Amino acid sequence: MRNILITGGAGFIGSHVVRLFVRKYPECRIINLDALTYAGNPANLADIEHRPNYCFERADIADFDTICRIFRQYDIDAVIHLAAESHVDRSIKEPFTFARTNVLGTLSLLQAARQFWNGHWENKLFYHISTDEVYGSLHPQDAAFTELSPYTPHSPYSASKAGSDHFVRAFQDTYGLPTIITNCSNNYGPYQFPEKLIPLTINNICHNIPIPVYGSGENVRDWLYVEDHARAIDLIFHKGTIGSTYNIGGGNEWRNIDLIRVVIATTDRLLGRAPGSSEPLITYVADRAGHDLRYAIDATKLQQELGWRPTLQFEEGIEKTIRWYLSNSDWLQNVTSGAYRQYYAEQYARR
Ligand code: NAD
Ligand code: TYD
Repeated sequence: MRNILITGGAGFIGSHVVRLFVRKYPECRIINLDALTYAGNPANLADIEHRPNYCFERADIADFDTICRIFRQYDIDAVIHLAAESHVDRSIKEPFTFARTNVLGTLSLLQAARQFWNGHWENKLFYHISTDEVYGSLHPQDAAFTELSPYTPHSPYSASKAGSDHFVRAFQDTYGLPTIITNCSNNYGPYQFPEKLIPLTINNICHNIPIPVYGSGENVRDWLYVEDHARAIDLIFHKGTIGSTYNIGGGNEWRNIDLIRVVIATTDRLLGRAPGSSEPLITYVADRAGHDLRYAIDATKLQQELGWRPTLQFEEGIEKTIRWYLSNSDWLQNVTSGAYRQYYAEQYARR
C-alpha cells in the first residue's frame, strides 16, 4: 500500500487531484493535508470523504512539528504538494503570507520528507505543483515558455512560487531527495474560488454586478480545464522522470476581454437571457500592479515523453464549467458568504 500525502486537497485543483486518486487507486491511502484557509473547502470532497482510503488532516504546512507527526503517523511514501496561497491580487496586499506558506511551508515539507525518508529514496517521490508565472511575462511575438525558460517572476505570488521551486531543486541536488516539478498554465473548472477571473465573471453575471476588467483587457492567459491538469499530474506522478520539470498547458490562449465575452455569451444563453444582455456589466478598472502581459506554455516535452494531451476543447470546457456554477449556486453562495468556514470550524472542532 502506498501512502500518498496530498497537500491543499481542499482547494480548487487539489480537490480534483484527491478525487481522481481516491477513486482510481483504492489500494492507496490518500491523506489530504489542508489548513482550510478561506480557499479550502471540505465540501469540495463531500462525494469521496467517506471512502475507506481517504483521510483528512487539518494542518498548516509551515508547522514543521505537525508535518513530521503526519509523516510518521501515516508512513508517507510520496507527496503531491499543491497547498499554497494562490491569488496574485492578494499577494500584492499581503506578501508575507505568501512567503510564509509558499516558501517556508514548502521548505518544511521538504525537510520533513528528507528526515523521514532518511536516504532511503527507493519508491519515494516529492512532487511539487507550480505555475508558469515563475517564468515572467511574454511579448505577443515571443515563443511560449519551455522548461528551459529563465525564471523572471514579477508578482509576490510568482516570486514565492519561484522560491519554492528553487528549494525543491536544491533538495534534489543537495540531498538527493527524489523530486519532480510541474509548471502549469491557468486552470479553470468547477470548485474554483470566485476571486479568480472565470468564476468571478460567472458570479457577477448571475447577480448583475459589474465585471472588473483590469487595464486594457488585452492581457493573455493560456487556459486548461482542471481535470486535464489532474490527469497530467496522475501521469507524471507515475511515469515522470525523477529530477525533471514538465510544463503543462492547454495551448489555448485568450485575451481577457475576449474570454469574458465568451463567458458572458454562454452564461446569458444558459440563463435564457437575450444574447449580449450582460455585456454592459463589463467595466474597465485600474490595472493590476505589475500585471504580466502574456503567459503561454509549450507542453511539447510532456506530450512527447508521456503522451499527454488535453482532452477537452475550450468551448466544451467553459460550457461545462458555467453549467456547474449555475447548478451549484449554493456552493457559490456559501464560499462568498464564508458560511461554510464557520460550519466546518465547528465540525472539525468536535472531532
Ligand atoms: P487554491 O487557493 O484553490 O487552494 C489552495 C489550498 O491550499 C486551499 O485548500 C488552502 O486551504 C490550502 N492552504 C493554503 N495555505 C495553506 C497552509 N499554510 N497549509 C496547508 N494548506 C494551506 O489554489 P489552486 O488554484 O487549487 O492551486 C493549487 C496549486 O496549484 C498551487 O500550488 C498553485 O500555485 C498551483 N497552480 C495553480 C494554477 C491555477 O490556475 N489555479 C495554475 C498553476 C499552478
Ligand atoms: P486570475 O484569475 O487572477 O489569474 P492570474 O492572475 O493568476 O493569471 O486573473 C486572470 C487574468 O484576468 C489576469 O490577467 C488578471 C485578469 N483579471 C481581471 O481583468 N479582472 C478580475 O477581476 C480578475 C480577478 C482578473
